[in-house]
Amino acid sequence: MVFSSRIYAALVGLAFVAATNAIDADLSVRASDPCAAIGGKKWVAPKDVRACYSSIRVDQNIKTNIIDVVNKTLAFHTSVNYEIKAPEPFTSEVHEDLLADLARIRRQSYASDYDLHIDLSRTLKRLNDGHCVWINNCYDSLFVNYLPTPLALLTEADGTQNVHIAPEAFTVATAEFPDQIDVWQNALPGPLKGKLESFSGAKVLLLNGRNPFDAVGDNALITGSFQGLGTRQNAFFSSYQRAAGGWNYIMGNFAQQSLPLSDFAILTVQRVNHTIPDTIVLPYRSRFGATSQNFTDTASYRANNCVAIAGTNGEDLSSASSNRGIPSSLPVAKFQQQPPIPAQTARKELINVMLDTSPLSDVVLPPTLQPGLTPVTGSRTVAQFYTLKDGKTGVLALGSFSDSDFTAFLNSLLQGLLSLKAAGATQLIVDVSNNGGGFICAAHWLHRIIAGPKDTTVPQAGLATAARDGPLAQLIVKQIIGANADPDVQLLYNPLQWTNASNVPFAATDDWLQPPVRKIINGRADAFSQRLGSECPPEGFPSTPPDVALFDPKKVVIVSNGRCASSCSLFSITMAKEEGSKTVVVGGKKDVPQKYCGTVGGQSTDFSTIDTEVKTTHLKNNTLAPPDLLVNGVQGITWRLAFGVDDPANPEEWQDHPADLNLPLTSKLVNNPVAIWEDVVARLLA
Ligand SMILES: *[C@@H]1O[C@H](CO)[C@@H](O)[C@H](O)[C@H]1NC(C)=O
Ligand SMILES: *[C@@H]1O[C@H](CO)[C@@H](O)[C@H](O)[C@H]1NC(C)=O
Ligand SMILES: *[C@@H]1O[C@H](CO)[C@@H](O)[C@H](O)[C@H]1NC(C)=O
Ligand SMILES: *[C@@H]1O[C@H](CO)[C@@H](O)[C@H](O)[C@H]1NC(C)=O
Ligand SMILES: *[C@@H]1O[C@H](CO)[C@@H](O)[C@H](O)[C@H]1NC(C)=O
Repeated sequence: MVFSSRIYAALVGLAFVAATNAIDADLSVRASDPCAAIGGKKWVAPKDVRACYSSIRVDQNIKTNIIDVVNKTLAFHTSVNYEIKAPEPFTSEVHEDLLADLARIRRQSYASDYDLHIDLSRTLKRLNDGHCVWINNCYDSLFVNYLPTPLALLTEADGTQNVHIAPEAFTVATAEFPDQIDVWQNALPGPLKGKLESFSGAKVLLLNGRNPFDAVGDNALITGSFQGLGTRQNAFFSSYQRAAGGWNYIMGNFAQQSLPLSDFAILTVQRVNHTIPDTIVLPYRSRFGATSQNFTDTASYRANNCVAIAGTNGEDLSSASSNRGIPSSLPVAKFQQQPPIPAQTARKELINVMLDTSPLSDVVLPPTLQPGLTPVTGSRTVAQFYTLKDGKTGVLALGSFSDSDFTAFLNSLLQGLLSLKAAGATQLIVDVSNNGGGFICAAHWLHRIIAGPKDTTVPQAGLATAARDGPLAQLIVKQIIGANADPDVQLLYNPLQWTNASNVPFAATDDWLQPPVRKIINGRADAFSQRLGSECPPEGFPSTPPDVALFDPKKVVIVSNGRCASSCSLFSITMAKEEGSKTVVVGGKKDVPQKYCGTVGGQSTDFSTIDTEVKTTHLKNNTLAPPDLLVNGVQGITWRLAFGVDDPANPEEWQDHPADLNLPLTSKLVNNPVAIWEDVVARLLA
């Protein structure tokens, strides 16, 4: 089915009218200051947000500053040269020459600062690496663009797959957008006006006049975060996540955009129990971000949201004034895909976590879809334990590897597994849907207490790693060991934080970056540290782990929508490849290989942390040191990269992670965790 261009043009016109009628902007204010037109408003039209963003000209000093910070921070990112052309099976997915593109961006002129931001942001997103992301609070999720119709990829009894409006779409939208739902109700044409609910579950025949999978593919090119194509396709669709405070709903990239990219969607759908298709135009609406700072005009928009704040840059930990200006939570925390953790914990614990331009969702999973089972003792925040009706399957729903309290979290993981066993569970499902990582040692701990003591878990359940060994990193280590620049052992580069490949701790004076391990990667000379060993000393664990396996790892199934990253990848990979646990991806397109995780890394960090290393070792004046960032931005990196299980000489990042099963979603299963777990049992654990 194809639109005539006349009908299409009419629909586009309709969409503009719908969007324009929905706002009450004072036109004279908008003409003089496009940011004043949206200041102080909760809901606005995306084109008015764009008008504000696009009115900001490029400031050459700021442009140069951002590129310098990003470029010089990348010297600490382990994967720059690998990402120029990733090995198979990721070659077609990751082929970004970041340094060449930064040079291009430096030369290129832009109509506005917003256009520059989009280019820079997408350039980094092309790495499809959730650790190495550029985020600017001035634009990313300042306003969030929404539709009331999240989508799902559903499979029919005969195996055919279609894009649908999620069956729960109207329930989610009315709960989350009570003050905006009328705008969408009134946007529906003629007799359909007010009947948004009747579109829940509808099959999407065309999206903007094209096959819906064209839009899925377009989005996969710009969404970033995961190397696997299937995983980036899945980002378009709705999903769920166990969050610290409850069960959350992820709208997906169709129904939620972190930038005001789209004004409307034209959907040709077949509603449930209808045979004749309907075509509707739904306007996107932009909602002011939950943590965005109020403004009234361009000047206050810029001052409150766009300039560096406390924690944007690092600090000299040796100076008396250090810690004074540091907020309880660091700016980078807003975009880390884990629950908020105190800044002190974030500094103390090793963390491997994904960044995203959308902060963690706080949309609620409809109560009818939330697990109705009673969580057993040990359940806490992002970790909920249940026993299924069969009496033999325990479930750990684990939305993150982080918690506000490291010790209490690890203890609760042990307590929860013991409770499941006491209740008679002999097999285990671990649901890590949308688990973006967190504490590295929580991942090791969970693997160790499930699988028991053995050569894959003692002295550690993790993977060996290496850091990048660039010239400024080498100088940082020399300052620490030669000039005692880090007497309280707070810096990443302090040898006292690490062990060598035989798991022997380094001495205070060991120059662990010497000699560099030189490699040629994609034709470029690169250098890495020696291999590092065990990073979670047994005395760092809150209690003695049991001396037997709590579950047979072969009776453990790890379930997700593929969006399991960082510490979640470290856990899933070691469980699958070393212990024989099974992996399931739910809802993937059946002709695309589904990966059970991605963005492995080894340890992630960000510009502000590297800047603290530089400042504390008094190297800020070095020409290789990134300058202080002038804008309210965040640049993430992979600081240590893990070596592989099957090929220990090369990074695990580029080794394959194929799921054992791609579980097809039906209208009964989609976004219903218990129904999914029961289906997984029937297929893999019965
Ligand atoms: C990035 O840094 C390198 C090394 O300092 C430098 O040679 C290169 O010109 C920089 N590129 C850009 C785009 O700033
Ligand atoms: C569709 O028809 C079936 C069978 O009559 C009925 O059970 C179901 O409730 C209908 N669904 C909707 C959304 O109307
Ligand atoms: C922003 O404005 C809203 C509505 O005017 C108000 O409720 C809120 O407290 C303000 N937030 C801040 C941080 O000033
Ligand atoms: C680790 O350090 C110990 C003590 O210095 C040394 O005996 C061992 O050879 C080192 N292992 C490696 C792999 O360098
Ligand atoms: C950088 O160099 C300037 C001029 O030599 C000096 O005044 C300043 O203290 C130095 N700053 C640092 C952080 O070393």
